[in-house]
Amino acid sequence: AREPDLAGLRILVTAGGTREPIDPVRYLGNRSSGRQGVAIAAAAADRGAKVVLFAANIDSAVLSEVQDRAAVRVVPVGTAAELERAARAAAAGAEVIIMAAAVADYRVEDVAEQKIRKEDSAGAAPVLQLVENPDILVGLVHQRRPGQVIVGFAAETVEHEDELVERGRRKLARKGADLLAVNAVSWSEGFEAGENTLHVLSSDGRPATVASGTKRVVADELLDVVRETLDS
Ligand code: C5P
Repeated sequence: AREPDLAGLRILVTAGGTREPIDPVRYLGNRSSGRQGVAIAAAAADRGAKVVLFAANIDSAVLSEVQDRAAVRVVPVGTAAELERAARAAAAGAEVIIMAAAVADYRVEDVAEQKIRKEDSAGAAPVLQLVENPDILVGLVHQRRPGQVIVGFAAETVEHEDELVERGRRKLARKGADLLAVNAVSWSEGFEAGENTLHVLSSDGRPATVASGTKRVVADELLDVVRETLDS
């Protein structure tokens, strides 16, 4: 076991993927399982932190990893708007914010109050008008308290690894976070997998850390970089 090197810290973690309703029975979602974020919450608690985990649509089998940890409070959320409200309200009470959740960039503008029925549509396929969601991470960066460390995530589809880091660097600068954890995703890698590779980029120009292994191992390596960032 590791030293309790995060004792006394309050860490906010978002994990999973938001779901944006279309009608009472349908939604726009993404493939994030929440495993990496849950592993971060578990690792942070094991190193002494008090963790609030905003869990966006995470399977109970995945959440079971943190269920027996008194230091982790799980708060379920559904949509990006719910996650934004919850995260903004909790942000001031945290020294570290880790935004591992996959947040929908768009939501449906007018959510249908009744189920959309094929037999009502006279043969025409429905068209969904989307509107942009606010970027929660950018909002939290704007209200950042002194010394607070804010970590963003980026899942990118790329053809070459250097493209991954380049995109990550640009995203880190654009969002203003302290750290950005970038991982490659595709039809077959990243999401449901037990293993992961993260490139952890730092806004202070330190070289990237490459963390690879089980999601728990990757979580601990990311938290090592967070610890160094808090100390610097
Ligand atoms: O731009 P992109 O969606 O790749 O950025 C990913 C990062 O931004 C993640 O940390 C995610 O949690 C956060 N994000 C957010 N609000 C959004 C979209 C993404 O906080 N609307």
